[in-house]
This record gives sequence, C-alpha cells and structure tokens, in this order.
Amino acid sequence: MGTDIPVHVGIIMDGNGRWAQARGFTRSQGHLEGLKAAKRIVKAASEMGIRYLTLYAFSTENWKRTADEVGFIMSLVKQYLRGELDFYRENRIRIRHAGNAAGLPSDIQAELASAAADTGDFEGMQVILAINYGGRDEIVRALRRLAASGKMAGADLQALTEGDITASLDNPDVPDPDLIIRSAGEYRTSNFLLWEGAYAELCVSPKFWPDWTGEDLAAAIADFRGRDRRFGGALAAGN
Ligand code: FPP
Repeated sequence: MGTDIPVHVGIIMDGNGRWAQARGFTRSQGHLEGLKAAKRIVKAASEMGIRYLTLYAFSTENWKRTADEVGFIMSLVKQYLRGELDFYRENRIRIRHAGNAAGLPSDIQAELASAAADTGDFEGMQVILAINYGGRDEIVRALRRLAASGKMAGADLQALTEGDITASLDNPDVPDPDLIIRSAGEYRTSNFLLWEGAYAELCVSPKFWPDWTGEDLAAAIADFRGRDRRFGGALAAGN
C-alpha cells in the first residue's frame, strides 16, 4: 500500500559549511553552491508535481554567525529572488515568505514582498522561503496576532482551539508538510515548522546540501511513499 507523492515538502538545507571545509573552500563558496542546489531542487520539485516546497534558508538562530556570513547569505537571498524571476514566470511558481519579516534588513523585506507580489497569481508550485524563521518564534507571533484580535481575552481563551493557532501562523492556507528532509546527516528539526510538522515524515540524508540533485529528491520521495502514515491511529486490519 503506497502513499501518494507529498503535497508539501520542507527542506532543512544543511552542510554548506562542511561541504566547503572538505574542499578547502570558504563558507561563502559553500553557500553559493548551496544556492545552486536550491535552484536544482526547486526545478525538480516543480517537475515532479510537488505543490508546496518550504526551504529553510535562514533561521532565527543564524544571526549568531559572523556579520560577513550573515551578509553573504542575505545577498544570496536577494540574488535568488531577482535572478529567478523569469524562471518563476515560465513555471508559474509562486514565491512566499515564512518568518519574522520585520526583523530582516529592509532591502530583503522589499525583495521578498516584491517577489511575492510579482508571483502572487501563479497557480503552479508554491516555494516558501523560510528566512529569519523559527518555529517557536512563529508560534509566539501567532499568539500575539490572536491576542491582538481579542481571541485570547477572558472566556474566549478557554475556547481557544488548535485551529485558532493554525489560522494565525505565517501562511495559514499552506497545508502541513507531509515530508521534512534534512541534508548533511544531523537528526534534528532545528526549530523548523514545529507546529506544522507535527505529523511530517522525516528523511535524513548524509549528503551535504551543495551535492543535492533531483535524484536525491526523487529518492527521498520514493522513501516517503513507502511509509505507513497513521497520524496516531492504528494499523489497518490485516497489517
Ligand atoms: C546550512 O549550512 C545552510 C544555511 C544556514 C544557509 C542556507 C542558504 C542557502 C542554501 C542559500 C540561500 C538559499 C535560498 C533558496 C535563497 P551550514 O552553513 O549550517 O553548514 P554546516 O553545518 O556544514 O556548517
């Protein structure tokens, strides 16, 4: 009994630094190759019929890196958003953001808003760039939105549901991820899609992110399709 291809795939793109270190390159070269891998995977995912792809490009914890490294990753984000616009148009790919936009440099906020506006009508795959994203931070911001809407006052607080929180997340219309992939061999979720990923299948690949190709994505999806997803329920009779 197989599972259909995942509707929403999230990827923790890890191992750019180790990829570079193994070659005597700078960390920046690792991130640059990581960006090329991200382009390959977006193309492959779109061709495979994935509907939503969330890429973890910069976490709320990544500010701990040197100013040079942070600046370089931000410049790559900008380069990616500008350089791929024709590709998004041709492939009808919609770009969205997850994370705390207000905490980003104003030029990156503007690029993200402009890419989202330029591609907002496209009905193909949606690429959600998680930038200045943390799962805990997203939940806190969701609760603040709920509080601002008056939903957390008095008796209403007792009636609060999981659905209320889901509806206050950054992209409430995006379905929960079915599959979360992590490259570079670490078995951690690192604050990625904490709320949404409650029942995501996990796939960890030993390969560093810059080495990822469409074949690695296809292999992760084939693995996913062999999983038995029960969402806390029991195995079907006969199994
Ligand atoms: C993790 O590798 C990677 C990052 C923190 C940055 C990811 C950014 C990109 C791939 C470029 C931007 C992409 C898009 C789609 C705009 P690491 O540096 O933690 O690697 P390490 O653990 O081996 O040091």
